[in-house]
Amino acid sequence: MLTNLLIDNTESWEIPSLVIYTESTWEKRLERAAQKWNISVPILKNDFLAKAGESIVLRNNDKKVTLLGIGDSIAFKVIEDAVRKHVFANRDKVGKSYTLNLKHLGDHLENVISPIISGVLLGHYQLKGIPTNVDIHLILPKENRAKHIILIEDAKKVAEAKLWAMYLVDTPSNIIDPQGFADEIEAKSNEFGFDATTFRSREGLKTLGLHAVLAVNAGSKNNPSFSILEYTPKNPVASIAFVGKGVTFDTGGISMKGSQNMHWMKCDMGGAAAVAGAIAAIAGMRLPIAVTGFIPATDNMVDGASVKPGDVIQSHSGKTIEVIDTDAEGRLCLADGVSFACKMKNFDHIVDIATLTGSSVMTLGYEAGAMLSNNVETAQLLTEASISTDEKIWQLPLWDVYNKGIQSDVADVKNYPGNPAAGAIHAAKFIEAFVQENTKWAHLDIAGVAFAANGYGKDRNATGFGVHLLLEFAKIIANQ
Ligand code: BES
Ligand code: ZN
Ligand code: ZN
Repeated sequence: MLTNLLIDNTESWEIPSLVIYTESTWEKRLERAAQKWNISVPILKNDFLAKAGESIVLRNNDKKVTLLGIGDSIAFKVIEDAVRKHVFANRDKVGKSYTLNLKHLGDHLENVISPIISGVLLGHYQLKGIPTNVDIHLILPKENRAKHIILIEDAKKVAEAKLWAMYLVDTPSNIIDPQGFADEIEAKSNEFGFDATTFRSREGLKTLGLHAVLAVNAGSKNNPSFSILEYTPKNPVASIAFVGKGVTFDTGGISMKGSQNMHWMKCDMGGAAAVAGAIAAIAGMRLPIAVTGFIPATDNMVDGASVKPGDVIQSHSGKTIEVIDTDAEGRLCLADGVSFACKMKNFDHIVDIATLTGSSVMTLGYEAGAMLSNNVETAQLLTEASISTDEKIWQLPLWDVYNKGIQSDVADVKNYPGNPAAGAIHAAKFIEAFVQENTKWAHLDIAGVAFAANGYGKDRNATGFGVHLLLEFAKIIANQ
């Protein structure tokens, strides 16, 4: 990532200058700005109120600035999006170097600085994967500089982790395949400061007992991979695990998907990317909590060797699975992932995250992910994290009455009830069957929010959803 944030003291008129205001800080500044830029107060007020995303260009002889409003809400996404949209829309115009003036935000800056920094860095994200090289000269208020600089450094770490997750999701599956995913994790482990162990062959996964992952991989020419990411600080206050669905491409397998928009299924490792990004950020911020990430990665392909509907397969837990629908492959990967995590250690919480069901999209649309949990405390912590990061999740029930839908005549469980009713719930009930009893666990279904038509590209593209949420979840536990 080559977007450099430089802390400068004075504004130079040689390079473009972007000044940020909230509605209330602009109101106080309006008269002085009108004087400075030689405009009448009513005209300036009419043109610019500093609402979120509103901007105006002011010129006076050889001086020029752009004012950008972020409104008066402190909701993370609102501010991040207002700034990202502006930077994205003007990225060619501002060139390689510009000033970002935050000094007029005064005392209010600490409430809005993190989403501003995130919005700026995300605004320079390139879908074609070509890194940008931009110098951003930050101008800060004189007061509380040390505090602001710490907030900027942390925000940069989170944004860089998000950008990595976005890159992993947006990069096509022929470029980042399951081996490539493991390569990425290994390559980034040093930079962010976590340990990576990767298993990269069918034999290797067989030795680990990841039979359900291998069943999904059966129709592929690509070897699967299984990555374990570990961040262990000195004297951790708790230890948690994240499990991410890493399906690099989902054709549906023998229960094949239609061809319309199938290319979107390169996003099916969005959960894995969120886990990788969150651990990168947690490690980068040196949080006092131990975190382990488990990422089973494979594509779901069609071949003579593919698993077929009705087949019964083995799993890591020892439970047998009847595969009713080969397109319900993510839950097979997660079943092995959570079972592996439970066997490895008694984690205080396990959270899995996955682009798992169209049903969660039908229920919550493109605005929120679904959360299902066997534990009130885990659900509460995730809800708190979600409110603070503004990455919305909403809890669905996990009542045992839904177990009927995963009971099989020929195996311990089946992966799909045979009809789409309560699809997100049945998927979660299936995964729950592989979680050790008394383990506090939650499942996040992010199918609707990981990959979005958000205006930052012609087609859908990655959002980085989950990186900030999982990081915040860890942070809340670390600070308890
Ligand atoms: N990868 C899909 C879910 C998905 C849908 C991700 C939309 C992103 C956007 C998953 O593997 C899948 O195919 N789910 C099926 C399950 C069904 C066959 C039980 C679905 O939801 O239709
Ligand atoms: Zn599928
Ligand atoms: Zn899938």
